[in-house]
Amino acid sequence: MTQQPDPGHILQTATAFWPSKVLLTAVQLDLFSVLGERAMTASKLGEVLGLHARGTYDFLDALVALKFLQRDGDGAEGKYKNTAETAAFLDRHSPTYIGGLAKMLNSRLFGFWNDLGTALKTGQPQNEIKHNGKPLFSELYANPDRLVEFLEAMTGFQAANFAQLAAKFDFSGYKTVSDIGGALALLSRIVGARHEHLTFTSFDLPPVAPHAQARIDADGMSKRIQVVEGDFFTDPFPKADVITMGNILHDWNLERKKLLIKKAYDALPDGGALIAIENVIDDARRENAFGLMMSLNMLIEFGDAFDYTGQDFRDWCGEIGFRRFDMLTLAGPTSAAVAYK
Ligand SMILES: C[S@@+](CC[C@H](N)C(=O)[O-])C[C@H]1O[C@@H](n2cnc3c(N)ncnc32)[C@H](O)[C@@H]1O
Repeated sequence: MTQQPDPGHILQTATAFWPSKVLLTAVQLDLFSVLGERAMTASKLGEVLGLHARGTYDFLDALVALKFLQRDGDGAEGKYKNTAETAAFLDRHSPTYIGGLAKMLNSRLFGFWNDLGTALKTGQPQNEIKHNGKPLFSELYANPDRLVEFLEAMTGFQAANFAQLAAKFDFSGYKTVSDIGGALALLSRIVGARHEHLTFTSFDLPPVAPHAQARIDADGMSKRIQVVEGDFFTDPFPKADVITMGNILHDWNLERKKLLIKKAYDALPDGGALIAIENVIDDARRENAFGLMMSLNMLIEFGDAFDYTGQDFRDWCGEIGFRRFDMLTLAGPTSAAVAYK
């Protein structure tokens, strides 16, 4: 007997923005930080968050059903508290907080993705630069709040990946690392904490530097991590044994990707390694749905920028002169694409 097709997958994906928006709104309201280590009734929590009674129970119980809250007891007596994951990652008092990612998804990308159809028809970005055509980073960084929001969102995307990179890549034969587009120097801080023999340069645009320096100082790592301000298209890369680029190549078109790879090649010694930490798409472009949607996100953000496969990376790096390649699986849909000079 042939099986009847089941609409479940279509329905689940069609409504996927509901759970997404419930979670993003909870982060925006800072619900998980308000709860902290406490357990609170719906009426108390609703009062603190300024919620109308109509939605309070639906919202909080939806979070329970989605496993983003726990509830002891039922009804008016029921008390809500964080799960182990929300306590670790969505309470902003936690050192492993990644709520910045949810905040940026909510405040920027949720709305911009509404224009995906326009992006597909025009090939043009659909974000803040849609009507003024300015370069995205100068537009984002012109507003100090948006600058911080963007940098903290990057932390959410990459923290687990950098920890995996520190565990899986063999850094033992190297002494220096330049992280190009290093944002809050997260890669340097995470890899540096595990590999004490390494020193780092975290290279990024001038408005980012004070924010990176503050994080490095807070982690007590200023002797081993130097912040260098510059523009990676016009300034040379700081020379190092290893050059890392986390979510950098996917921000640019092919010509600029190749320029950045060439600059990395020139800054490395023989035997040095270029490591791109990205949502590398599988070569057949059938499996890594997140990587493919990240590439659509690059269309929304930049227009001509795109994510790429491991084979693309090997082809571009091979053209420039890199001789050996490797691919390390990191957290979830992210990989480290490695090219050795
Ligand atoms: C998508 S973020 C990635 C940040 C970080 N590497 C990560 O993996 O989370 C891109 C970074 O490149 C930096 N950037 C963009 N254009 C740049 C330029 N022309 N020169 C130096 N840094 C730049 C941005 O400030 C930002 O920190």
